[in-house]
Amino acid sequence: MEKLEQLYEGKAKKVFKTDDPDVLIVDYKDDATAFNGEKRGTIVGKGVINNKMSNRVDQLLEKEGVPTHFIKELSDRETAVKKVDIVPLEVIIRNVAAGSFSKRLGVPEGTPFDEPTIEFSYKNDELGDPLINSYFAVAMKLATWDEIDTIKKYAFKVNDVLKAYFLQADIKLIDFKIEFGRYHGQIILADEISPDTCRLWDVHTNEKLDKDRFRRDLGNVEEAYNEVFHRLGL
Ligand code: TMP
Repeated sequence: MEKLEQLYEGKAKKVFKTDDPDVLIVDYKDDATAFNGEKRGTIVGKGVINNKMSNRVDQLLEKEGVPTHFIKELSDRETAVKKVDIVPLEVIIRNVAAGSFSKRLGVPEGTPFDEPTIEFSYKNDELGDPLINSYFAVAMKLATWDEIDTIKKYAFKVNDVLKAYFLQADIKLIDFKIEFGRYHGQIILADEISPDTCRLWDVHTNEKLDKDRFRRDLGNVEEAYNEVFHRLGL
């Protein structure tokens, strides 16, 4: 497989074409942004960690029946993935109140839920990724009802698999964001799963081991990413 010209550069990755129209190569960067790109920085080593962690998780999810875009890890930072038509929804699952949920609804951070929640944001940087519901998504033709049903089913399955995966490393999965795409008409998971996109707390101390350390200027950002990487044996 041949790496061809860059298709685009996002906040955390570059994406390249290949000689196969069904295959792209993603190249994970150390760049970090928060608050829709307002805050910028570098987390040294993050690209390698996010690449390896996402790939391990995708392979685990495939085994558990969730189709993903993963094809092959090419290097520390590069992975071949299936080229999808992205569904412009950020799908967020929460097990414990935190972040925007706590801020918007006044529920203290750390309050556990009896059952996980699901929410959708419309992926649109100009609008600031506004919160919507499934009826909005269908009305705006972002997805069909069948696709929404599949996305919900897969998102909760991802939560079950990830909760168990992190727990064996003494890490609590608080919440996470994922995105899906259409690959030859089928819905598949088409996003990274990393400390950039998950809230991960130490089971015993509730210490934050994720991008909130960068967003909130808590310090020891690289240390937290490395801690997750090592605890997961990656
Ligand atoms: P939130 O509490 O800010 O809505 O974030 C929920 C989860 O989604 C959290 O794990 C961080 C992740 N997330 C992203 O991956 N990208 C984003 O742009 C945002 C806003 C959140």
